[in-house]
Amino acid sequence: MSGHRVCVSDYEADAQKILPKAVYDYYRSGADQQQTLEDNTAAFSRWRLRPRVLRDVSEVDTSCSLLGQPLSAPLCAAATAMQRMAHPDGETATARACKQAQTGMMLSSWATSTIEEVSEASDGGVLWMQLYIYKDRELTLSLVRRAEEAGYKAIFVTVDTPYLGKRWDDVRNRFKLPSHLSMSNFSTESLAFSEGSYGNDSGLAVYVAKAIDPTLSWDDIAWLKEHTRLPVVVKGILTGEDAKQALSHGVDGILVSNHGGRQLDGVSATLDALEEVVQAVQGRCEVYLDGGVRRGTDVLKALALGARTVFVGRPILWGLACEGEKGVIDVLTLLKDELRLAMALAGCRSTAEISRSTVKRQEFTSR
Ligand code: FNR
Repeated sequence: MSGHRVCVSDYEADAQKILPKAVYDYYRSGADQQQTLEDNTAAFSRWRLRPRVLRDVSEVDTSCSLLGQPLSAPLCAAATAMQRMAHPDGETATARACKQAQTGMMLSSWATSTIEEVSEASDGGVLWMQLYIYKDRELTLSLVRRAEEAGYKAIFVTVDTPYLGKRWDDVRNRFKLPSHLSMSNFSTESLAFSEGSYGNDSGLAVYVAKAIDPTLSWDDIAWLKEHTRLPVVVKGILTGEDAKQALSHGVDGILVSNHGGRQLDGVSATLDALEEVVQAVQGRCEVYLDGGVRRGTDVLKALALGARTVFVGRPILWGLACEGEKGVIDVLTLLKDELRLAMALAGCRSTAEISRSTVKRQEFTSR
């Protein structure tokens, strides 16, 4: 295996060699033809940087905050399910790595470590709970209460998954969890995604159809707000209209996300949807972005277009697969170093100095 990885794609190449095919496919895939998956990364190449020079960049401060929680950089770990498939330490390794990197981690409802185990591993680091709303509302609220008790700082409620997107490789592989693992936050076999067989389909698609509530509407956001004292962020907004709806339902933040291209194929790259959302919000709540962030310059461009921080999904999994906790620290450090260098070369000495004028749209380029 390469001992000298210089960018996120080096980690992916090594992770692909290490992981069983069905696991790598599950982590990597997008929905259908994967247009949106590809576009998420391609979109960053449609924007060009406008550097300012001669600004004394001997000191560059990458720090920022998310809902009042200080972070060393605007770069956090997105919720990705079932991390023990990547490494035996799974989510607990990611939590330790994020604490070490002084950044935050969003824990998936579908983690293979419990809410409490991750909180203990994080040892006072910043954690947020990603929530899927189950048909069983008491069960849903029990996840919220456990997160509150374990010191999580916000609920990120995923709103783009009333059904699971069709991910061809997962259907071909009849994806399910290896038998020694389960979704640890649940006690029954059916909720823990550890039934023996899910037929000819992606096991996860069958699971979602059975357990997750497709009746979800804006009233449920108000319902969630009523039942938790934690800030609520909606994850999966792509339009100005929905951003306004979210605001009128009292959300504390909006995560512009297309689920890493894994849900509705053919939607805009998140970077392309970001400005519309930022303009609709007009500073009334924090706006974040995830999807396709692979380089420090990507983070800089997302911040220039109005994101307060970005989240990364797959790169964390590649680091975890390569070297567990150390691999995740390395990926976060690499991205943070790339961001610091990009900020310096663009003449931005702090995240506050990154503005809309830091980027311009490049209309006629394929990459
Ligand atoms: C995800 N994502 C996700 N989102 C969520 O709300 N709950 C979840 O359990 C998961 N699980 C999950 C697993 C895997 C393997 C991936 C790749 C993604 C979506 C995730 O939070 C985020 O939106 C994307 O991963 C961001 O895109 P990138 O950084 O992976 O391109």
